[in-house]
Amino acid sequence: MDIEVRPLEAAEVDAADAVFRDAFSTVLGPGAHRDTELVRTRFRATHTAALGAFVEGEVAGSTLVTRWGSVAYFGPLSVAPKLWGQGIGTRLVAAAVDVLDGWGAGHQGLFTFAQSQQHHGFYQRFGFWPRFLTAIMSRPLTGAEPQLGWRMSVVPPAERAALVDACADVTDAIHPGLDVRGEIASVLDQNLGDVVLIGEPDAPRGFAVCHAGPGTEAGSGVAYVKFAAVRPGPGVAQAFDSLVAACQGFAADAGAARLTLGVNTARHEAYRQLLAAGFRTDSPGVTMHRPNEPGYDREDVRLLDDWR
Ligand SMILES: CC(C)(COP(=O)(O)OP(=O)(O)OC[C@H]1O[C@@H](n2cnc3c(N)ncnc32)[C@H](O)[C@@H]1OP(=O)(O)O)[C@@H](O)C(=O)NCCC(=O)NCCS
Repeated sequence: MDIEVRPLEAAEVDAADAVFRDAFSTVLGPGAHRDTELVRTRFRATHTAALGAFVEGEVAGSTLVTRWGSVAYFGPLSVAPKLWGQGIGTRLVAAAVDVLDGWGAGHQGLFTFAQSQQHHGFYQRFGFWPRFLTAIMSRPLTGAEPQLGWRMSVVPPAERAALVDACADVTDAIHPGLDVRGEIASVLDQNLGDVVLIGEPDAPRGFAVCHAGPGTEAGSGVAYVKFAAVRPGPGVAQAFDSLVAACQGFAADAGAARLTLGVNTARHEAYRQLLAAGFRTDSPGVTMHRPNEPGYDREDVRLLDDWR
């Protein structure tokens, strides 16, 4: 079979999205991604690369590669179910690895099914190794959660750049070069949610990039913490609790009934604080890492993400 892999073009995104929904619904059940938007929102973002696989000119699969400075990951990866087992997924992963290497990302990864030895074996061939579980957790909201911290969207545009840079200082203090300014821009530019901040206005202690509602990575009735981090140092536990509480306030204000987030369980203290705050695991996945190093998955790191 003749397979072409190349960057996805705008006119091909609808077809890639349809394949993505079909592939994941086949393994997870009908409508697995509800009214969330992963493929279109990541395609539009400037810190991502979208790769398509084509058979006879038709979209047969895709993957999105995301750059967070010195860290980068790929996913979701999907292939049209009728074409599984014919090497298309392999070609997409090889192309994704080329992008990750081309970016010079020192720590690379992906999120996959914790229970699927087939998936683990597949990615191991490319040098990705399973480490700790990443728990996708959520908790219900009453709607009365207090509004805490402040929001990036209300900061005057002239002051925003400095604040975004201050967020990069927070992540750099956790893992050198970790930089999610692309996620912040994506949320603000596409109106997907907001960035919730705590601490001093000119030196935030922590921030959370949140999506809310349909057409985002959250979906109807849900708010989702795509990424959050607290600067290490004295008082980090209390600051993390404050940031999580501020995310709940944001979610309630956005009309969400649940707040969803992801945490790698190697960030043991963060995981335990989330349990104590009433979060429960909806689905455990596993992150696979290239090289097989902890990166920022350390016991004391207060950081939320899931690489889905
Ligand atoms: C996983 C997936 C992308 C693989 O694509 P593919 O084109 O079938 O992959 P390939 O033909 O290149 O096969 C590569 C390996 O994938 C694995 N694989 C194949 N079909 C698979 C399936 N249905 N489920 C899981 N793994 C599968 C096998 O280990 C295979 O190895 P082999 O060459 O020894 O048989 C595709 O099955 C898919 O879209 N699945 C649903 C969505 C999904 O699971 N995405 C990945 C989440 S991390």
